[in-house]
Amino acid sequence: MTLRKALLLSGLIGAALLLAGCGTGGKASGSGDQTNGQKQFQAKCAGCHTLAAAGSNGTVGPNLDDAKPTLALAIDRVTHGKGPMPPFKGQLTDQQIKDVATYVSTVTRGG
Ligand code: HEC
Repeated sequence: MTLRKALLLSGLIGAALLLAGCGTGGKASGSGDQTNGQKQFQAKCAGCHTLAAAGSNGTVGPNLDDAKPTLALAIDRVTHGKGPMPPFKGQLTDQQIKDVATYVSTVTRGG
């Protein structure tokens, strides 16, 4: 509970910093920010998914290193969920969804 709060808070602070620093550093192309995406992944997704780049080894969902999802698929899954995977719309902002989806598709080279 406390850890969850801390993770959530650090996510919010990260997002606030990103907004504040808009245009300076990071990827300012309107696409996802991978650093923020990795934080989201470790907070929300690591328990269910294996992803070497994030050091996670969850086994509820597919191993993402093998699945190599495209950006479009990752955005769709994170937004709407599927089967046992919950939808994150409402829990994550559209930007956070884009960040985590960009992160996953980039580090697995899913494109
Ligand atoms: C409660 C466990 C759980 C959590 C939390 C979870 N997932 Fe999933 N995820 C799954 C399951 C199960 C599937 C398989 C769904 C299906 O196709 O039936 C899946 C599928 C996916 C897929 C599609 C893989 C493919 O190629 O079919 C992606 C991408 C994905 N998850 C990313 C994420 C991301 C990013 C997060 C965090 C925002 C996340 N997941 C959180 C369980 C989870």
